[in-house]
Amino acid sequence: MDNRPIGFFDSGLGGLTSIPYLMNALPQEKVIYFGDTARTPYGSKAVTTIRRFSSEIADFLVKCNVKMIVIACNTVSATCLEDLRKRFPEIPIVGIITPAADEVARTCPEGSRVGIIGTKVTIASHAYRNHIAALAPKLRISETACPAFVPLIEEGIIRNEIMDMTIRYYMDDFVKNNRLDTVILGCTHYPLIKENISRIYPDLKIVNPSSVVIGEIEKILRDRDQLAENSDFTNVFYASDLSENFINMIDHIFEDVDEHKKVKFVNFDLERERMYEL
Ligand code: DGL
Repeated sequence: MDNRPIGFFDSGLGGLTSIPYLMNALPQEKVIYFGDTARTPYGSKAVTTIRRFSSEIADFLVKCNVKMIVIACNTVSATCLEDLRKRFPEIPIVGIITPAADEVARTCPEGSRVGIIGTKVTIASHAYRNHIAALAPKLRISETACPAFVPLIEEGIIRNEIMDMTIRYYMDDFVKNNRLDTVILGCTHYPLIKENISRIYPDLKIVNPSSVVIGEIEKILRDRDQLAENSDFTNVFYASDLSENFINMIDHIFEDVDEHKKVKFVNFDLERERMYEL
């Protein structure tokens, strides 16, 4: 047993989409979340910049004495996972790409046509494609970047025509020309537009890495005998810019989860290591 928190981080609020799944599957686990909302999006930045930002956040989570780090960001998982593992060899670090790629390779029948959507950096890394192709070479894989999704989602522009038009702009030809049957939401922000995507493409099977990663977290904690037995605790969500958008989005993501009432929000200036509690 290990009652220390699990540290999650993302470039912004997208990584929060994993937390309700964790709360449902492992309700005794305490969470520290860090969203780098002041510097989001990462998905179109240089890899060296993403490396610097993510090492700063991992340093902070390690100082918080977390028992595990979950990179709840595809862009960081695609570019920095091995670096972070080298930097902190004593802490298990889970990326969000491998568990979903494993599941697709294991469950999609031969000849399936799988599409991957993500940020420019994730798609350019081919992290999903390479991992799936190594395990299941007979799947037909296509990839496309959808860089306008994240800024719209961060602005809360979700259940409306502008988002639907943007989805069609990026995905109509992609789905049709590649005759896709499955799509992987290769960015942790995209589960927030899952309903729009399944309404527009009702025949498409959608794989959501934000939920699949929870199985991997549970397996590692169980194998290491580190599952928690916390009963009364508060989760702490840090944001480098605790904006109104961040708070609104939390209400949206956690609408069906009681536990979110036990969340404390902290505005955190990573560069100066200063906290402003609300
Ligand atoms: N949530 C991040 C991901 O999963 C992307 C958002 C960003 O571009 O910062 O890739």
